[in-house]
Amino acid sequence: MKITGKTKIVGIFGYPIEHTFSPLMHNAAFSTLGLDYCYIPFEVRPKDLKSAVEGIRTLNIRGVNITVPHKEAVIKYLDELSEEAKLIGAVNTIENRDGKLIGHNTDGRGFIKSLWEDAKTKAKGKKVSILGAGGAGKGVAVSCALEGASEIIIANRTIMKAEELVRYLDRHFKKTQFSAIPLVKQQLSNVIAESDILINATSLGLKGKGMLPISYKELHKDLVVYDLIYNPLITPLLKIARRAGVKKVVNGIGMLIHQGAFAFEIWTGKKPPVDVMKKAIL
Ligand code: ATR
Repeated sequence: MKITGKTKIVGIFGYPIEHTFSPLMHNAAFSTLGLDYCYIPFEVRPKDLKSAVEGIRTLNIRGVNITVPHKEAVIKYLDELSEEAKLIGAVNTIENRDGKLIGHNTDGRGFIKSLWEDAKTKAKGKKVSILGAGGAGKGVAVSCALEGASEIIIANRTIMKAEELVRYLDRHFKKTQFSAIPLVKQQLSNVIAESDILINATSLGLKGKGMLPISYKELHKDLVVYDLIYNPLITPLLKIARRAGVKKVVNGIGMLIHQGAFAFEIWTGKKPPVDVMKKAIL
């Protein structure tokens, strides 16, 4: 990569940041298309977020991705939000449009795109069970509702959070039926048996975290099982799904790639080389 006086800077704000795969993915894409851009990781502490966002304008950074723990906190420093970012209540991509900072959320679109690319499945008309009611769970629930899912069940350890999310979704989406259940085996078992798509949006399955209260017996072959986790690539849930003979089993790599691809398009206006981005990550 050759950095010159004309090179445009993009990057990512997060804390911690050293584990991010995004620089690999974006720089590979810029280099393949011969675009004079460079993607840089910025370690931004929560107390410095405001001045870091001001820095986007003052340093004429073309755009940044926003990751944990800033996705919600960053909103108050932006000039405008996309409809999706407003609905999800979180921003993962900032576009610097001539000094005006616009917040987007490409996570939800990335998920929907991956669901299609990796499982040839659309959320429209489907019964979807989502495990988790945190930021990731909300993002996926909003995207599935935007796509026209017929029913969405949110299962969460803290049932009050699932109920609060269901109230929020009920207010915004009239055509989808929402319900909340606790993240316990018995209730999950009944709900999964009738679901078309099962999504893990909890942190259970990450290295060092506990296990979901699900065994292979709760899963059926025609279910689409999507784990937002991608490290490890074959998550405990995906192992169980394979044992159950589930045909469509997907990890979070596809969502990671497609959220990045949508951000790339926002910043450059160019069609992203998705295969290159995928190869760089894998
Ligand atoms: P994210 O933005 O990735 O969704 P988060 O907002 O912290 O992160 O949400 C983490 C999700 O994982 C929540 O649904 C959380 O459940 P609670 O709302 O009950 O906290 C879930 N989670 C994390 N650790 C868990 C555990 N040990 N058992 C069950 N659920 C867990």
